[in-house]
Amino acid sequence: MRSLIVANWKMNTTLSEALILANGVKEGVAALPDVSVVLCPPFPWLVAVAEALHRHPAKHIHLGAQNLFWKAEGAYTGEVGAPMLAGLVQYAIVGHSERRRHFHETDQEIVAKAKLALAHKIVPIICIGELKKPTAAVLADPSELNAATLRQPLHELAAVANGLTHEELEKVVIAYEPVWAISGNKDAVAATGLYANQVAEILLEHLPVPLPVLYGGSVTATNAREFLAQPHISGLLVGGASLKIGEFVKICRQA
Ligand code: PGA
Repeated sequence: MRSLIVANWKMNTTLSEALILANGVKEGVAALPDVSVVLCPPFPWLVAVAEALHRHPAKHIHLGAQNLFWKAEGAYTGEVGAPMLAGLVQYAIVGHSERRRHFHETDQEIVAKAKLALAHKIVPIICIGELKKPTAAVLADPSELNAATLRQPLHELAAVANGLTHEELEKVVIAYEPVWAISGNKDAVAATGLYANQVAEILLEHLPVPLPVLYGGSVTATNAREFLAQPHISGLLVGGASLKIGEFVKICRQA
């Protein structure tokens, strides 16, 4: 299967920076047949980036939203509903840890968002991950990891698996993003490939259907290969390193 590399630009870029970035990435990944790339710009730039991507369409490059609201429409000032995104984006990040933390998003809301995305033909990339950093010993040798030590991501995963129908669940992408590894958090460091793979394997054991599991958290051009080489990791969710054309293209090249 083709690897999925998702660029989460978060609340960064001006309009002109977004267009330079989108065009640069498009050119850089045009000749990479084994990778599907999803660019997730801030909401105000979605239409302009969509137009830039459509100008000389590149096959394996898609557009994603960083969020959507858990109701389709109505009196929700400042929110963006799935019907507004339908046809514009093919993917949407749902339940990112920054949204869980800063906006107190609940598992219930995250399931509702995923359902609305799916109803509008948008693939939800549902983020789950634990807050607590494992010891260096566990990161180096994660063979002892089990369901008891992974209570938080498994709890978040169960909410998704129980909240969606079997048919809905089959269309979802899971992003395993240990919160402690996401840049911007205190002392953030990337997980190890072995650790991410072991967690992905345990997550997959708890799902009724096999799903793509992405890894995210301080991914760079230097460590991307370590994660992509793992049998249970289907791609990457990249934050900081997706804002630099050269570095992001290098990451895509490893896929
Ligand atoms: P990071 O962000 O690559 O900057 O750690 C990843 C994410 O939050 O999606």
